[in-house]
Order: sequence, then structure tokens, then C-alpha cells
Amino acid sequence: MKVLNFGSMNLDYVYTVDHFLTKGETQAATGRTTYTGGKGLNQSVALARAGVFVYHAGNVGAGGEVLLRELAESNVDTTYVRRQDDLPTGHTVIQIDREGDNCILVFGGANRSVTKEQVDETLEAFGEGDFLLLQNEINGLQDIMAAAANRGMRIFFNPSPMDESIFALPLETVDTFVVNEVEAAALTGADPEEPAAEAEQILHSLLEAYPDSTFVLTLGEEGAWYADRETRVFQPAYREVAVDTTGAGDTFLGYYVAGLLRGDTPAEALDLASRAAAICINRPGAAPSIPVLKEVEAFQ
Ligand code: RIB
Repeated sequence: MKVLNFGSMNLDYVYTVDHFLTKGETQAATGRTTYTGGKGLNQSVALARAGVFVYHAGNVGAGGEVLLRELAESNVDTTYVRRQDDLPTGHTVIQIDREGDNCILVFGGANRSVTKEQVDETLEAFGEGDFLLLQNEINGLQDIMAAAANRGMRIFFNPSPMDESIFALPLETVDTFVVNEVEAAALTGADPEEPAAEAEQILHSLLEAYPDSTFVLTLGEEGAWYADRETRVFQPAYREVAVDTTGAGDTFLGYYVAGLLRGDTPAEALDLASRAAAICINRPGAAPSIPVLKEVEAFQ
């Protein structure tokens, strides 16, 4: 069985700030560092550092060599990554505040140049039972989901960053949604500004809307849930001081899928994923902060 992640690759320009900028404000940043990131790249790196052989597909533009290097050094297969040197590489401007929380402005660049021909050519190498990971930072998701479903692939979808385009996708083909509270609210038609207070209520609404899917609901410090039609599993978060939360959700997702692939139950996979995410938030940057399996297993 093979694992394919068709996703974004970004250069993250990370600025350390006292507080997030407000409208009209000018503030002096106290630091700036460039990291490798992108939800897609981070999730591939997490899978690979957890010991999974993963194929990454997507597009990098001019200046994206460092992203290809990060993937290769993490043992991610880049056969299906295309170079689009006439386009800028995807990048973000990230503010990190005193609490280690972030706020992200993303510029898609080459990530948004996926073609139907590329989708068909890439998916040709995958089939029945193979895993496919997707996030919402590339274009072409509709084609990818439809082609993957035709081939019998098992789709894990992280609809992040959440926007209206999600609702045009064949969401009924998704095997597992990995969502936070705001994404869950949007998926169920609730007001994302006012997510339901109770996890049980959120999970119930998600399963009502997508009864054939399973869900992983991540709630940050409040832990995470697994839910399908019969089962509910709760995993408390491992508490760590947050240096930088960027990439923690991607680390969680990559390790969760890696756990399932090695035969873990959802409860065991959630535990593994929570340990990995706790280590990640304790380190700066996105991809560079993702731990290897040995570190995660040693984490108490
Ligand atoms: O999930 C974190 C990632 O989101 C960052 O690495 C940034 O590139 C944005 O895509």
C-alpha cells in the first residue's frame, strides 16, 4: 500500500511580534527567520519522520530549492513534485506573538498551478486502498478527489485553511476529515465565529452531515477526539510551553496517519499524534520543528 500527499510547499517568513497587528497599526518585529513549511510539506515530513514512505506531489516555483531539499533530507519521495520556475514559490508571512500563537498570511504562488493533466499523470501510479492526504492550499482538489475516489484510494482531508471553495468538492468521497473546531463548524453549516461548545455536539453534527466518514477533531490544549458512527475516543493534550504552534496540526495529522499505517487503534494513533504535536510546539518553525519517531516515543 502506498501513501501520497498532494499538497502545498511554502517558504514561511516568520516574524516575532509582541502582539498580532491590528488594523492600521505599524509595529517593529523583534525577529525574523525563514523556515520550510506549507501544510502539505509539513504533513509529508511528519509522516516520513514517523517512518512512513510517502510520495509528495505538488508544485514549487522560483526559490523553492530549499523546500525540495527539506523533503529529500526527510526521506520524502519527490518524484511527483514539479518545478514551475516561471512562478513564485508559495510563501507565508507569519506573526508569532508572546504566547507562541500564530497568525498566517498565505500566498499560493506555484501551489495554485496544479493542472488536470498533472493530477491524472500523478494518480496513475496509485490505486485501491492507497492513502491520499489533502489540505486546502492547492488548486485542483476537485479533480484530485474525484480521480482518487475512482481509483479506490482512501482520502484523508484537512480542509485548512477553510473557505467557501470546500463546498464545491466531492466531500462524500472523504474517508477521514481532520478538522479543528472552526473547520468543523463550517462543515456543518454552523457559524464559524461561534463554534459549538461541546465536542460531543460538534461530532454529532459532523456525523449527521457526513455519515460515511470518520472524524478527528483537534481542539488544541483541550485535546482531540476520534469519532465514527459507533465509536468516540478522547485524547487529552500533552501540555507543553508553546514556543511556536506553527505546524503542530500538521505534525499531529502526519503522526496520526502514521499510527494507523503501523496498525495502531485510533486511540493509540491519537496518543502518538498528541505526543508529536507537543514536541513540535516547543520548537520554532514549521517543518524543522517536527520530531522523529524516536523522540516521540521517548516523550512523557
Ligand atoms: O500549518 C502550518 C503551515 O500553514 C505553515 O507552515 C504555513 O506555510 C501555512 O501553510
